[in-house]
Amino acid sequence: MPSNLVRLTVNGAIHDIAAAPDTPLLYILRNDLALNGPKFGCGLGECGACTVIIDNVAARACVVPLSACAQRSIMTLEGLGTRDGPDPLQAAFVVHQAAQCGYCLNGMIMTAKALLLRNPRPSEQEIKQALRYNLCRCGTHVEILAAVMAAAGHATARDHLSEADRDATH
Ligand code: FES
Repeated sequence: MPSNLVRLTVNGAIHDIAAAPDTPLLYILRNDLALNGPKFGCGLGECGACTVIIDNVAARACVVPLSACAQRSIMTLEGLGTRDGPDPLQAAFVVHQAAQCGYCLNGMIMTAKALLLRNPRPSEQEIKQALRYNLCRCGTHVEILAAVMAAAGHATARDHLSEADRDATH
């Protein structure tokens, strides 16, 4: 492999990337690999919209340079599930209607997924702690928390609704 190439594994596929070593991983994912799950929000590592999972740890792709990703395993939202076969966490977000504008969703889901990978049954406090630096401008935090709680196997307020009330929330 030529020395100017950086080898990445993204969603299980190997890519050899030629770009400046300080290029943010987010630019590679979106511009070179057409993976648009991770969003550009602040570009400063502060909002969480660009979150991906690198070697099972949540990382902010806007501030991770390409050079730091060589030979590492990267998962984006596209690697988590599909429309027909969503990850249980994605399914929980749908059931709990945990979105308004949706811009933060990639970061919320990938950060929560990283938490569930290391702790399949986190407490409410642990979920809040993990998501505390993911920003949602719409204020959908209650629904997002409920979705992650459900994915972690906890009962949520929705579980106590009647069938008719549940239908009415859709
Ligand atoms: Fe990366 Fe905001 S765009 S943290």
